[in-house]
Amino acid sequence: MDQKRIGCDRLRAKVTSAEAAAAFIGSGSTVGMSGFTGSGYPKAVPLALAARIEAEHAAGKPFHVRVWTGASTGPELDGALAKADGIEFRLPYNSDPIMREKINRGEMEYFDMHLSQVAPMAWQGFLGPLDTAVIEVAGVRPDGALIPSSSVGNNKTWLERARQVILEVNNWQNAALEGMHDVYYGAALPPNRTPIPLVRPDDRIGEPYFRCDPDKIVAIVETHGPDRNLPFAQPDDAARAIAGHLVDFFRHEVARGRLPASLLPLQSGVGNIANAVLAGLLESPFENMTAYTEVIQDGMLDLLASGKLRMASATAFSLSPGAAAALNADMARFHDKMILRPQEISNHPELIRRLGCIAMNGLIEADIYGNVNSTHIMGSRIQNGIGGSGDFARNAYVSIFMTPSLAKGGKISAIVPQASHVDHITQDVQVLVTEQGLADLRGLSPKQRAKAIIENCSHPNYRPALADYFRRAKEHSYGQQSPSLPGEALSWHQRFIETGSMLA
Ligand code: COA
Repeated sequence: MDQKRIGCDRLRAKVTSAEAAAAFIGSGSTVGMSGFTGSGYPKAVPLALAARIEAEHAAGKPFHVRVWTGASTGPELDGALAKADGIEFRLPYNSDPIMREKINRGEMEYFDMHLSQVAPMAWQGFLGPLDTAVIEVAGVRPDGALIPSSSVGNNKTWLERARQVILEVNNWQNAALEGMHDVYYGAALPPNRTPIPLVRPDDRIGEPYFRCDPDKIVAIVETHGPDRNLPFAQPDDAARAIAGHLVDFFRHEVARGRLPASLLPLQSGVGNIANAVLAGLLESPFENMTAYTEVIQDGMLDLLASGKLRMASATAFSLSPGAAAALNADMARFHDKMILRPQEISNHPELIRRLGCIAMNGLIEADIYGNVNSTHIMGSRIQNGIGGSGDFARNAYVSIFMTPSLAKGGKISAIVPQASHVDHITQDVQVLVTEQGLADLRGLSPKQRAKAIIENCSHPNYRPALADYFRRAKEHSYGQQSPSLPGEALSWHQRFIETGSMLA
């Protein structure tokens, strides 16, 4: 192992095995782990903890922990602990398939919350005490300051709030990450909260390192393992069409003087469609763009490399294995163009509103009035979670949601009479885009929105049924502000549950 990664003699004495470190974590305790969209999560201690839990279960002893993270992590953390049946409670965002199944079978509790609110809620004491922080870092400086790795997430808060700290020092993480981070230490609770002094996406308002009381550090584990993110799907025709509609919309807004020529700071959500839209911006006429966003994904790296994107501020990388390797090989080129911040800052409503971000997020389904469901399939099965979509959508300069108009090979319409679950109310959804077209909903009443969404966004296979529903709703509705037929509004979902298709 690269001894220089732990530059502090006093802390080097605490280096131990993952198994010995995991032994500090007791059943029933709450563990705050690093990690955000498959980046910067601990890779050895959670695996050792999972093995210990399996051994305890085999001996007939119950062993479960409560796990807090930044957002999703990797198979060595969420996957391993879920497989070991070791998690009783998890927050705030998950995309691991094993964990998703356990949640949907009702075998564990999952608290899906706005990502900007996790750290403040931990400080406010609403989430209970934090026993252990398990944090991956890229190195330890001689003075004991910690060099963050490929995500910042809630690490600052976990390090401050936890009773004891376990560090993983991962020398797979590029040493040149040092200096890229901006950890803000000025957040306070009401009534002592003050304005956050960030007025441009490239402002630095904090420190490049985490502070941590060395007496709280009980173990340090050295690792060498890659972040594991899934590759993005290659943009298909639908994704390219969505990107095309959005670029046209931006051109139009610039021509009307409603957006500057370099646009406003971009926020791009998680998932394949969001990544494909960034690829579309690569071909666009916009130059000198900036991003104030949650994650830097492949498409954003390409935009940075092209020079079209001047800089990107986020809390984590969310890169495919290929893009992560490319970044690692060429870190110096990108170092000064990227800033990683705590997620309470990357997703802070005050800053998103001040900067005027252009929010672009994916969705599961939208209804004809523009209410958006980002999280639940058929109203009850969780897919991932709300993530930062609510932080950005409500506070953006313009809030855009995008999706292919069909899911599951056409068995599902993404535009439905009524959303089976609502994460983003109609007021927070200003533009809706599918491969069919774009509906600019700003300034439209509910009935005007329904007409625009059905005509511009729905798939032709479902459009006549949606138009028919809307026409009959206007004839028979209890009220005329947002006409609906409650007995029929969710019948498309019921039909899918019963027959495997929403088609009549
Ligand atoms: N009904 C059923 N399943 C649906 C669906 C619908 N209406 N729409 C999408 N899905 C399924 C897809 O079939 C796919 O499932 P699979 O993995 O089994 O094939 C899965 O959801 C992902 O859909 P995909 O079309 O690949 O879109 P995506 O990768 O762009 O992800 C979300 C879309 C909504 C799941 C994703 O954007 C998300 O989790 N959003 C919430 C968090 C968020 O917005 N964070 C950003 C904040 S910065």
